[in-house]
Amino acid sequence: MVYPIVKFGHPVLEREAATVTEFDTPELHKFLADMFESMYAAKGVGLAAPQIGVGKKIAVIDVSNGENEADKLVLINPKILKIEGKQEGEEGCLSIPGFREQVRRGRAVTVRAQNAKGEFFEQTGEDLLARAFLHETDHLHGKLYITHISALKRDLMKRKIKKLQRAGDWE
Ligand code: NI
Repeated sequence: MVYPIVKFGHPVLEREAATVTEFDTPELHKFLADMFESMYAAKGVGLAAPQIGVGKKIAVIDVSNGENEADKLVLINPKILKIEGKQEGEEGCLSIPGFREQVRRGRAVTVRAQNAKGEFFEQTGEDLLARAFLHETDHLHGKLYITHISALKRDLMKRKIKKLQRAGDWE
């Protein structure tokens, strides 16, 4: 099932998500399959549960956008362990459609998370995957990428979004 993506302005996007305590249930497996389906439908490379209105610490990532099965990643209760180096690049978010900004992030990022069965694992990602680890983990702490851009750019973006909201083009 494809869920609609919640847009900036919805409080679920700016709240700390709840830690997942139940694993390997049919509900969790179905939810993860729905998250991948929703992410592919929206043409994203990452999706966090709050973006479909569910305040739980669950994110899915696929930097190959459905091209390579081995790139499918589930992060449950993720924690960033290590950030090395720097990268500059454009970043966007499915919850803030139509906008992209330059965001400086770490170039190599190690995350510790649980999989659908509740097993802990660690993985180091570089470049786009490193960016996705940081972006999606931020979502689970109620933090959007726009917190990493200048206040000036952020205010401009918020004003544009307010206009879209008033015109009824943001729901
Ligand atoms: Ni996002």
